[in-house]
Amino acid sequence: MLEMSKLDLAGKRVLIREDFNVPISDGEITSDKRLMAALPTIRTALNRGAQVMIMSHLGRPKEGTFDPDMTLEPVAHRLSELLGLVVRFEKDWINGVSLQPGEVVLLENVRFLKGESDNDLELGKAMAVLCDTFVMDAFATAHRAQASTHAVARFAPVACAGPLLMRELAGLERGFMAPQSPVVAVVGGAKVSTKLTVLESLLSKVDKLIVGGGIANNFIAAAGFDICSSLFEPDLVEATRDLMQVAIDADVEIPIPLDVVCGREFSEDAAPIARQVNKVAANEMILDIGPKTSSLYSRLLEDAGTIVWNGPVGVFEFDQFGQGTMDLSMSIAESPAYSIAGGGDTLAAIDKYGVGDDISYISTGGGAFLEFLEGKTLPAVGILEERSM
Ligand code: 3PG
Repeated sequence: MLEMSKLDLAGKRVLIREDFNVPISDGEITSDKRLMAALPTIRTALNRGAQVMIMSHLGRPKEGTFDPDMTLEPVAHRLSELLGLVVRFEKDWINGVSLQPGEVVLLENVRFLKGESDNDLELGKAMAVLCDTFVMDAFATAHRAQASTHAVARFAPVACAGPLLMRELAGLERGFMAPQSPVVAVVGGAKVSTKLTVLESLLSKVDKLIVGGGIANNFIAAAGFDICSSLFEPDLVEATRDLMQVAIDADVEIPIPLDVVCGREFSEDAAPIARQVNKVAANEMILDIGPKTSSLYSRLLEDAGTIVWNGPVGVFEFDQFGQGTMDLSMSIAESPAYSIAGGGDTLAAIDKYGVGDDISYISTGGGAFLEFLEGKTLPAVGILEERSM
């Protein structure tokens, strides 16, 4: 795969695809992690004499229409502050952008253009003619085959991988290509259906699999316990049981929580009730793991050589149900293992418990991170590899 770091960019029109799909509330960016991650790429391109155009998506607008709630304009302002130079914002750009040497232009949300999500070839060509060099740097969108991540890379005069994309691939591959064992994966989150394929594929890669949140509820139910009013997916209990059998056959340990913290309602005012896992009452729902389970997980993580983490083990946005995720974060941070973390909720937990400096690699990817864990080829990476053959 061609890398931006190896190319001569002097005087070139460089079109960089970043993932600036950041949370915005009342016009204010509430987390600029994805912007921070892209700064070295932008600075490097500028220092090498490029004229820089950046494209990104934001949210999921109705294609072909402008939606003021999903404009990238606030991102251009924030990016200007972070870079310490004016980032010009270009609303209408697909038919051409005028650029001065040393200038940085942020292009309006690519998803306002018809054909973006369908990976329309004509749209990809129109993007490609804007530049001399296309740089794919958006690891977090690399699982999408769209005009700005895939078709453009097919038609650009030169298409290469940016430093952030390379860093992500290297950081994640280190945990997967020749991992230090034992490998422990932690997969939490609300629904087992969204992560069933990830869980399946992890079974051939890990020694232990810790499940959390609504996903764990399915495992608790599949193990034969009554989870009462807890969130779970009844039609997937059988599939969860099959997965547990595959794990037994593959000698992968999936510990079932010993104790849990329940609430009588899903609310920030719900009182926490500690229970053994087999003692949950009919009107209670499991919202966190209990202290015995936290200690068990902590022991498993302490002995790990590699840890892969995606998803919380409880409803940590409500403090009274956050202890399990806090303990888990601390255990991962304190473990000497090489640790990788990714996903929106995971990053929020890392921030909340202040453990970011002690995780070996934190990915900017959510869906892309999961697809990487599944072992899938990310289409935006695949096309760069194809082009360099
Ligand atoms: C993400 O936040 O996971 C990426 O930006 C991809 O967004 P999408 O799921 O809307 O394609």
